[in-house]
Parts: sequence; C-alpha cells; structure tokens
Amino acid sequence: MPVDKDTFLKAMGCFAAGVTVVTTVDADGTPHGLTATAFSSVSLDPPLALVCIGMESGSYSHFVSAESFAINFLSADQADVSQRFASSGEDKFDGVGWRTGELGMPLLSGTVGFAECRKVHSYGGGDHTIFVGQIEAGDGNELQPLTYFRGGYRRVTDL
Ligand SMILES: Cc1cc2nc3c(=O)[nH]c(=O)nc-3n(C[C@H](O)[C@H](O)[C@H](O)COP(=O)(O)O)c2cc1C
Repeated sequence: MPVDKDTFLKAMGCFAAGVTVVTTVDADGTPHGLTATAFSSVSLDPPLALVCIGMESGSYSHFVSAESFAINFLSADQADVSQRFASSGEDKFDGVGWRTGELGMPLLSGTVGFAECRKVHSYGGGDHTIFVGQIEAGDGNELQPLTYFRGGYRRVTDL
C-alpha cells in the first residue's frame, strides 16, 4: 500500500535538496518557470540531467512543448525568488534580473550556477513528468547554495 501524503512529505523532507528554478520559453518567446527541487544529474557521458514537473502546474504545457529548458541553481539569498516561482502567476519574471542563454533559455541573475538543456526524453512519473535534458551549456560560481530541508529553506553553514 502507498504511504499517505504526510508520511511521504516527512520522509522526502529528510533529503536536503538544492533549490532550482526551471525555465523555458514558449513559441512567442515569453519566459516561463517554476521552483523545483526534484532535480538530479543523470549521466556524465552523455551529460544528462532530469527534472520532474507536476502536470497540474500552470507552466507544465510549456515544458511539454519546449525543445529546451534551463535549470537555475538558486543561491542562499534567493528564498524570495524561490517563493515567487513557487506561485502561479503571469508576472514571475517582472523585477527579476535574467538574460537569454546559448539555447535561448532564461537564465536568472544571482544564482550559484545553471545548466541549459536540450530535452531528449520524457517519462511518466505519477502526477509528474520526468524531463531528461542533455546539458549543452552550464556554469557555476563561488556563491553559497539555497537548500530545502524538512519543509523549510536552509543555508549550508559548513561550506
Ligand atoms: C521548495 C519547493 C520545491 C518544489 N519542487 C517542485 C518540483 O520539483 N516539481 C514541481 O512540479 N513543482 C515543485 N514545486 C511546486 C511549484 O513550484 C509550484 O506548483 C508552482 O506554483 C508552479 O508554478 P506554475 O503553476 O506557474 O507552473 C516546488 C515548490 C517549492 C516551494
């Protein structure tokens, strides 16, 4: 029997995750994005990463249609950015600094790093879809990461 939702959240909350904002653009060039911790690197050769996006998300259809997406790894001072992209709304990018990456994906300012991916696989995963992308551009810097653990934003104090 599957566990109930509270048990699922309690157990999964024990895994300290980096916080990302996954972004893409639609056919009109309008940027879309949402906060996601369901991210993992997958393969070194070829360089693959995955992100799981809920089918109920307003931006879900844009990720289904998109050929590419970007993973923005938030830095320790970006809990407000995470909250903004964790809510549904049209104006998420207003007042947030961002630029266009090599694959045309929105790259947020102030992050600790990013991976720009060309979508190569999609798999069913319950109420989410697992999007696998080949990383075709990426970078990182010396900032501290934002993490999510036991239902709250945390700073890593030992880096
Ligand atoms: C810390 C945190 C982690 C989240 N991780 C995910 C995730 O991995 N996948 C997902 O689909 N939604 C995740 N969400 C929820 C989405 O960010 C949220 O549903 C958002 O409103 C979706 O935006 P949209 O409706 O504009 O697409 C997370 C939210 C928070 C606060």
